[in-house]
Amino acid sequence: MSSQDISAFRARILHFTDVPDPATGRGVDYYEDGVLLVEHGRVKSIASVETMIEQGFDLAQCQYFPEHLLMPGFIDSHIHYAQTDVIASYGEQLLDWLNDYTFPTELQFADKGFAAQAADQFLKLLLENGTTSAMVYTTVFAQSTEAFFKAAAKRNLRMIAGKVMMDRNAPETLLDTPETSERDCRALIEGWHHTKRLHYALTPRFAPTSSPVQLKITGQLYRDYPGLYMQTHLSENPQEIAWVKSLYPDATDYLDVYDRFGLLGQRSIFGHGLHLSDREVARLAQTQSGIAFCPTSNLFLGSGLLDVQRLEDAGVRLSIATDVGGGTSFSLLRTLAEAYKVLQLQGQNLHPLKGLYMATLGNARALQLDAYVGNFAPGKEADFILLDLAPTLLQQNRQQKTTDLNETLFALMMLGDEQNIARTYVMGKLAFRRSSRAQGDLQWME
Ligand code: GUN
Ligand code: ZN
Repeated sequence: MSSQDISAFRARILHFTDVPDPATGRGVDYYEDGVLLVEHGRVKSIASVETMIEQGFDLAQCQYFPEHLLMPGFIDSHIHYAQTDVIASYGEQLLDWLNDYTFPTELQFADKGFAAQAADQFLKLLLENGTTSAMVYTTVFAQSTEAFFKAAAKRNLRMIAGKVMMDRNAPETLLDTPETSERDCRALIEGWHHTKRLHYALTPRFAPTSSPVQLKITGQLYRDYPGLYMQTHLSENPQEIAWVKSLYPDATDYLDVYDRFGLLGQRSIFGHGLHLSDREVARLAQTQSGIAFCPTSNLFLGSGLLDVQRLEDAGVRLSIATDVGGGTSFSLLRTLAEAYKVLQLQGQNLHPLKGLYMATLGNARALQLDAYVGNFAPGKEADFILLDLAPTLLQQNRQQKTTDLNETLFALMMLGDEQNIARTYVMGKLAFRRSSRAQGDLQWME
């Protein structure tokens, strides 16, 4: 174990091996004092300090973080890299919000330099929030997708992304055509799909902004290239749903528009899915298509409350997502806190173990990335975070009163945000560090 390529991290460690059962602890792998060994950027092993000592391991080799909780990096299943500047835009619901704020902002990505800078800024924000993988919408401009992949490749991140396809019902300057979108998608897929840690997702924005011809081409591309993903929006807002009905009068319902063009399946992730019929829910389950639950966005845009229990009971694959800039935070911790409240309003519940599972292994599974990331199974890529459980006076106060792991994690989930992310590692390498505990910079005058 003396090889220079091995690094050892000692801390409290939590990860998941399966859907957690809070009653029995099944699926939860927790070490009050554990060691994570990383070799060539991959997990070599994880064990308690006692086990490591028994095996003759010299603990002095460890980087030791006695105050921190070490977890797999967070995964965000639906986010728009071009919408960082749209966050917190006042007072609209979906369709007006798109027209008044989002489309003008995305127009700026016609500029190559702007797109490159925004991609870098976006990845910095992800890392600051402990997010190491995401499924990302870029913009209609292929060069913005290019800029995103370039920036993600430079930081060696595992990312899924694609060029937004939209050929109608948006400002002229933001539209592609079926032909240009096919050409651009093929070039991007051939240039970036399965390059380094990158994957391509076909990204028709949503049914209203794609003609039937464009959706047909999307379906053809989906069949042409193995391992592609497909992402789009579904059933987010009542006006949007009525609009889809008028644009696609022959379709049975909103989901059927996508279904007709072969866009459902295990690698398809639909954002929102708030107002679905029983038929749509059953069809999502039948095709193993996924829904990205975006609580901060659903609340901010007044879109609705996702009935998680209904989808889970039907067997629909669920993931958790920020949906920045409809969403109001890059933090998966904040997102889980809002998810908890959305469920509370419906008499449902989100256990902290389930929430943290969703943000890590659950999302890895939902995005079919669990062969690479999501937990500390040996051989997986070592993307992980060190969480400070008490970066603020409030959290310090609350955490001093917690008596077991579940309570500690619940307080983290409800009160936490990017201030809790002390460090983020990508394939075993430090990629972000918060310089000091925020509280250390605060002063109270008597
Ligand atoms: N539907 C179509 N485009 C968008 C988008 O950019 N954000 C959200 N939340 N919904 C959409
Ligand atoms: Zn979205």
